Amino acid sequence: MFLDYETAEKEMQSVIDGSSNVLEDVVDFLYKNFDYYSWVGIYTVENNELVLGPWRGPHATEHTRIPIGSGICGAAASSGKTEIVPDVKSDGRYLSCFVSTKSEIVVPIKKQDMVVGEIDIDSDKRDAFTKMDSLFLEKVSDMLGEHIH
Ligand code: SME
Repeated sequence: MFLDYETAEKEMQSVIDGSSNVLEDVVDFLYKNFDYYSWVGIYTVENNELVLGPWRGPHATEHTRIPIGSGICGAAASSGKTEIVPDVKSDGRYLSCFVSTKSEIVVPIKKQDMVVGEIDIDSDKRDAFTKMDSLFLEKVSDMLGEHIH
């Protein structure tokens, strides 16, 4: 099923409001509703590392801990800005997880301006992520800050 972003945003909010396991339910929702979101995970910041929390996708990643500053994930965590990588092969920072991945988006989750985590999505489609994805996922991130401790 593919939802339009406005509907997805409303549904996401109601999923979060009714959830006792918010991070799990968020990755589940994103993975199920967007066909080009091939792998969806949430990392949380612990000391100077990103630590993988819940994820959905066909395979586990070996990158369960990523130093801040390393990879696309670490870059988004240091800058606090969303990273869209249309072609992972041409980005020297990319840490490879899956042979099928062609593009990636990483959206920081903030709490009072501090990065406390991030949403990481890999796509098997090249150039899969647009401004619409970043706007939508930044709204989802805003909903999540208070749920990361
Ligand atoms: N590709 C990421 C690593 C995490 S995996 O995509 C799940 C990066 O370059 O930071």
